[in-house]
Amino acid sequence: MRILVTGGAGYIGSHVVKQLLRAGHQPVVFDNLSVGTLDNVITGAEFIEGDILSPTQVLAALEGIEVVIHLAGLKAVGESMTHPAKYAWNNLVGSITLLNAMIEAGVKKIIFSSSAAVYGEPIELPMKEDHPTKPLSFYGHTKLEVEKLLAWYDQLSGIKFVVFRYFNAVGYDPDGDIKGLERAPQNLLPIIFEAVMGWRDKVTIFGDNYPTADGTGVRDYIHVSDLASGHLKALEYLDKNNNSLTVNLATGQGTSVAEIIKAVKQESGVDFKVEIGPPRPGDPAQIFASADKAGAVLGWQPVFSDMATIVKTTFRAYEQNKKN
Ligand code: UD1
Repeated sequence: MRILVTGGAGYIGSHVVKQLLRAGHQPVVFDNLSVGTLDNVITGAEFIEGDILSPTQVLAALEGIEVVIHLAGLKAVGESMTHPAKYAWNNLVGSITLLNAMIEAGVKKIIFSSSAAVYGEPIELPMKEDHPTKPLSFYGHTKLEVEKLLAWYDQLSGIKFVVFRYFNAVGYDPDGDIKGLERAPQNLLPIIFEAVMGWRDKVTIFGDNYPTADGTGVRDYIHVSDLASGHLKALEYLDKNNNSLTVNLATGQGTSVAEIIKAVKQESGVDFKVEIGPPRPGDPAQIFASADKAGAVLGWQPVFSDMATIVKTTFRAYEQNKKN
C-alpha cells in the first residue's frame, strides 16, 4: 500500500516508516524538517519536503495514496501554553488542510496520532478510552479538537479513521537502525540520557512528594516500536472494517521517575547528578492507561516496553551519536 506519513522524519514517524517498509508497504515521508531530520528518513522510503500548512503541497503528495498516517505536529506541552498560536497553526490548521486535501484527492483513510494529553487530570486509573476528556494544556486541546473534527469528516465525507492516544513514547529501534536524536528535548528519557552522555550536568526530578509509592511522578512509558506496530494493526483494521476507532496505545503499567533514573544508572554505569526540584505546573501525579481495547479490537500487544529494553535501546542510540 502507498501510504503518506506526515511527520515521517520525526522520532515516532521514523519508527513507523521502518515497520511499514518491512511489511512491504510504500511509505512516502512528508515532512517540513522543522523538528524531524533527514537522518531519520529510512532508506527505501520516498521523501517529500513539504508542509501540511500548504494545500498545494499536500494535494500533490496525496497522488496515488491509499492511507494517510498523520503524525506531523508540535508536541511540547509547556510551549503550547506560552505560544498557543504556533500550536493552533500547526496542529489545528495543518490537520484541517490535510483533511480537506484528502477529500479533494479522494483519500478516505487516516491514522491520527493523538495523545494521553486529551484526558487531563485522571479521575479513574487505568484510564480507558471513555474517560472524560478535559485537557490541561493547549497541546492536549489541539489533539482533542482534531479528534472531534475527524468524527465530523467521517460523518460528512466518509473519511474513516483510527485515532491513537499515545502514552509516553520512549526507546529506540531495537535493531539500532534509527539514531536521530531529538533536538532540545523536553521529555524525561532524553533529558536523562543527555546527563548520561555528559551533555547536561544534572537531571531535576519535578517533585518527590506526590501521593505515589516513592513520591515521584508515575507515567505509562511505551516503546516507540510498539507504538509503530500499532499503526500496522490499524492499517489492517481500516482495510477490513468500514468504521472508525479511537484507542489508547499504552502498557497498562505505571513507572515512577525515580525507578527510571535507577534503571538508567544501572544499565549505563554512569552515576549522573540528580536533584529534586519543585513539581512542574499541570503535571498529574500518576497516569497509566488500559490498553485492553487495542488488544481486543486490533490484536495489538506491546512487546518492547519493559524498562530494560527501553533503557538499552535508548542508550545505544545515544552512544551512536557520541561525537555530535
Ligand atoms: C506529556 C503529555 C503527553 C505528551 C508528551 C509529549 C500530558 C499529561 N502528557 O507527557 O501526552 O505526548 O508530553 O511531549 O500532558 N520529569 C522530571 N524531570 C524532567 C522531565 C520530566 O521529573 O526533567 C517528570 C515529569 O514530571 C513526569 C515524567 O517525568 O512525571 C514524564 O515527563 P515528560 O517526559 O515530560 O512527559 P509527560 O509530561 O508525562
